[in-house]
Amino acid sequence: MIKFQNINKSFGRNDVLKDISLTIRKGDLVTIIGASGCGKTTMLKMINRLIKPTSGNILINGENIRDKDVIELRRGMGYVIQQTGLFSHMTVRENIEIIPKLSKSNPEQIQKHTLELMDMVGMNPDMYLDRYPTELSGGQQQRIGVARAFATDPEIILMDEPFSALDPITRTQLQDELLGLQNTLNKTIVFVTHDMDEAVKIADKICIMSQGHILQYDTPEQILKNPCNDFVASFVGKNRIWASPDLIKAKDIMIDRPVCCGPELSLRKGVERMRFANVDSLMVTDRHRKMLGIVRAKDLYFLLDHHKPGATIAQVMDTDFPHATPEDSIIDVLSIVEGHNVSTVPILSPEGLLQGLITRSSLMTTLSHQFLDTEIIGGSE
Ligand SMILES: Nc1ncnc2c1ncn2[C@@H]1O[C@H](COP(=O)(O)OP(=O)(O)OP(=O)(O)O)[C@@H](O)[C@H]1O
Ligand SMILES: [Mg+2]
Repeated sequence: MIKFQNINKSFGRNDVLKDISLTIRKGDLVTIIGASGCGKTTMLKMINRLIKPTSGNILINGENIRDKDVIELRRGMGYVIQQTGLFSHMTVRENIEIIPKLSKSNPEQIQKHTLELMDMVGMNPDMYLDRYPTELSGGQQQRIGVARAFATDPEIILMDEPFSALDPITRTQLQDELLGLQNTLNKTIVFVTHDMDEAVKIADKICIMSQGHILQYDTPEQILKNPCNDFVASFVGKNRIWASPDLIKAKDIMIDRPVCCGPELSLRKGVERMRFANVDSLMVTDRHRKMLGIVRAKDLYFLLDHHKPGATIAQVMDTDFPHATPEDSIIDVLSIVEGHNVSTVPILSPEGLLQGLITRSSLMTTLSHQFLDTEIIGGSE
């Protein structure tokens, strides 16, 4: 765990960081994002003591980093700087092994680990270990930079815009690889970026900075859905949520109060209720809102002619209906609508209680808003 406690930093009269307090949980990938000059690199460099705070403390696992041996501290942290920072006069192997060799580990072990690291970042060791950085493409250099940061198996990895110089395809690839690595190795990663798409994609939490302050520190989902003020909202961009539809949950778009009835209602009353509410289906629930079935208008009209008077909804309702949970994404709901060819998807709690309803037409309305909004703000983003 990394904890910033009331950190201030001034360079001369320039107050760069103002009373920053922030906790980064162990195993989280946190992205720091904000305009150029807002203090992102300064924050990162404080964690490995390349920059000293003017006041305040940074604790790692409860220990004040000021009290630690600086060499030890840095050995426990990988650091990837922008444009990789590979040493140009050293081969790929020498670049990766420079820090492990300082720790006087067994040379055979170091070599074995280097091969593993090359494999981890998807580079062929036979082909690349003896090359110099200038003999690699930009993306390959970044991969070696990442391999080097993992070389001492550090608990914490600091990454300062590590992928910013890359083309979008290589960048996406490296983001995916980083996510995979973090899932398996569970490092604490502090990742500075300018790019909101990148932040949303990779972060467990995003820290949005402006002029030395933290504006919002939260999960990507919360930041996209509930930006804390207009600045964050405009920074995030109004329609960005649509770039990550998996973050749009059934609970965000469902109709909260679907029209319901009990199982003992007569068919005739059922038809009346549908007409009155102007809906084409009723959710059938018991007194505790437990979902029992669905009746649809088209079936009801048909049945009305063929059933004895006094027949109840319970006798005709459809009890085998696809449903979703409030935490399912809009994509999951769409695939239910398409896969089962249904026009209503009840949203149920794990206990089977009715929470809401998504209909084909409410889905279309939600989706069409995206395009309408885009048109209205047209190109202002
Ligand atoms: N060593 C230094 N001496 C004086 N001022 C500095 C020093 N390092 C950074 N600054 C100033 O501190 C402010 C924050 O710099 P920092 O490098 O942290 O910004 P950043 O958010 O990383 O920006 P960018 O996105 O451009 O990398 C800037 O105004 C910068 O000029
Ligand atoms: Mg910077």
